[in-house]
Amino acid sequence: MANTYADTYSAWMKDPEAFWAEAAKGIDWDKPWDKVFDADAGVYGRWFAGAMCNTAYNCLDRHVKAGNGDALALIYDSPMTGKVEKYTYAQLTDEVATLAGVLADKGVGKGDRVIVYMPMIPQAAIAMLACARIGAVHSVVFGGFAAKELATRLEDAKPKAILSASCGLEPGRVIAYKPLLDEAIEISSHKPETCIVFQRPEKAADLTAGRDHDWQGLCDGARAAGRKAGCVSVAATDPLYILYTSGTTGQPKGVVRDNGGHMVALNWTMSNIYGVSAGDVYWAASDVGWVVGHSYIVYAPLLAGCATILFEGKPVGTPDAGTFWRVISDHGAKVLFTAPTAFRAIKKEDPKGEFLKKYDLSGLKALFLAGERADPDTVQWAEDMLKVPVIDHWWQTETGWAIAANPMGIELLPIKHGSPSVAMPGYDVQILDENHKQVAAGKMGAICVKLPLPPGCFPTLWQNDERFRSSYLVDYPGYYMTADAGYKDADGYLYIMARTDDIINVAGHRLSTGGMEEVLASHPDVAECAVIGVADQLKGQVPCGFIVLKAGVDRDPAEIEKEVVGLVRQKIGPVAAFKLAMTVARLPKTRSGKILRGTMRSIADGEAYNMPATIDDPAILDEITDVLKGRGYGGRV
Ligand code: COA
Ligand code: AMP
Repeated sequence: MANTYADTYSAWMKDPEAFWAEAAKGIDWDKPWDKVFDADAGVYGRWFAGAMCNTAYNCLDRHVKAGNGDALALIYDSPMTGKVEKYTYAQLTDEVATLAGVLADKGVGKGDRVIVYMPMIPQAAIAMLACARIGAVHSVVFGGFAAKELATRLEDAKPKAILSASCGLEPGRVIAYKPLLDEAIEISSHKPETCIVFQRPEKAADLTAGRDHDWQGLCDGARAAGRKAGCVSVAATDPLYILYTSGTTGQPKGVVRDNGGHMVALNWTMSNIYGVSAGDVYWAASDVGWVVGHSYIVYAPLLAGCATILFEGKPVGTPDAGTFWRVISDHGAKVLFTAPTAFRAIKKEDPKGEFLKKYDLSGLKALFLAGERADPDTVQWAEDMLKVPVIDHWWQTETGWAIAANPMGIELLPIKHGSPSVAMPGYDVQILDENHKQVAAGKMGAICVKLPLPPGCFPTLWQNDERFRSSYLVDYPGYYMTADAGYKDADGYLYIMARTDDIINVAGHRLSTGGMEEVLASHPDVAECAVIGVADQLKGQVPCGFIVLKAGVDRDPAEIEKEVVGLVRQKIGPVAAFKLAMTVARLPKTRSGKILRGTMRSIADGEAYNMPATIDDPAILDEITDVLKGRGYGGRV
């Protein structure tokens, strides 16, 4: 058995199929695969072709069958409501099988899509697993998105049913989900047959007769009738879920995850990357609406037989900057995984770590960070405070698990601040120049992964092989283009520096500036616009919109700026955190009319930039600089 990272990585390199076949032994299969990897199937090949399995079975039933039904599976901790609820594997299996029975009785079956639009309550995880149990394909939509974003997903996924709750809870306000859901269904041309709504005591929802049903009522009925659904065997290559993520336009990309490869990869990561095993308590402080929530709140911890913490709260303000430490000590979390922004928020409130002194964190063995670049200051602060390894790791919605990490479960490699460490087995990561040639160590380039992608990564976009190819595969033939730019040092450590597209990362949330531009452009007084991400001390980046008003508009620009801010909140949602809009006379462009967003970003962030050779009118950059300075941003360097 390989027991160093180098051995493990080279074992994979030497024989990828043998490597993943070995990892696949950690999963229970209904039927074994015909081929570990079928290079002729799908767009770039498919893993575990011919195998049959069920993800919910592997997450739940098999642990119960193995005699671990009384082990803790899920801990719901909600400082928002003051509630803590615990589910054993037996209890969670029962909840999931019951809801699965309800869904099946509503006509939902294998391959049908189900939208899950839920706050961070146990029913969100139960909903996902119930879909998996009957072979239905879930698509979770983050609660901070507005009705229009939900409608776009309804339109694309065409769900038979929606699982939702009456409300979500944000500090200081209750967010009624049902009006958003109704509006989305109203806008969408696709109308789901059934909505099952979990009524929360904080705010009940009015149910539409015929279409809407009370979650608890249906489950109580099913329970009284002894109705539970069994696990439906699906192909390893069948979709488990679709997760929409920001693309370069307002039309999100439907990232598809399959069943077999996903289980194999996630199960492998738990022991090898995170160093946890059955019985350990694992906490990913994210949201089930994001990929981190899918992989590390729900699927991976349960596959590995861990107890997963589902936390409904914020790192600060619920009620204070000691909440994370309380949760770790109350539940004995061995690993915490969150976004750097959460630690920046805690550091800002409690720079000296006074709250830490109140709790026993001796059970915590590591902090993992991802979702955005982990700035060295934050990593250093976390190390000083927690006195455990602080491990940055890099991944994307598309991959579903870490492309680069420090594999603590195999061996803890030296940590280099600013780097998510090294490529994981499965990923042949190369830094390429514009001629598709590998660059020397230390030189920046496009970060690409040689095809095929490993198990667990997306095989395609939902019913859109063409967009999958054009977005990810055509620019660097033979490679998956990550759309991140960066470099590798002489030791093979990766440094992820920037996106090469117009995706920005706001508080660990991935957002499309293109999508925001579409909203700004829809305002009747706006002639043209540009949205860029500017550096923000807390959130990493925040969006900043520039608008040029149509000729003849003589309204107060401040009014229009307020309106466009409101429009983004209404059309994309509060999660866009779009609060900065500035009216400018003109936008800087190249002679061919391309807006110089990169240069504008450098000005806003006060970074040095070279005058673009193709700029049409350099004077516009001074105008932009003045407007930005007027709002306290940047300056010309
Ligand atoms: N439903 C409805 N609204 C939501 C929401 C949800 N699930 N999640 C966030 N929002 C709202 C917030 O209330 C906020 O609204 P506001 O403009 O009225 O204040 C807005 O969306 C922006 O949210 P966010 O960017 O998260 O800012 P915040 O000030 O609420 O919190 C942090 C800042 C750093 C505390 C928070 O982003 C955080 O905990 N991040 C942790 C990391 C994380 O979850 N990353 C995901 C991937 S790992
Ligand atoms: P998402 O799909 O929401 O997980 O966002 C993926 C993007 O977030 C990546 O393409 C990176 O730009 C960024 N990202 C995620 N993790 C890291 C990390 N550890 N370091 C730097 N950037 C990261």
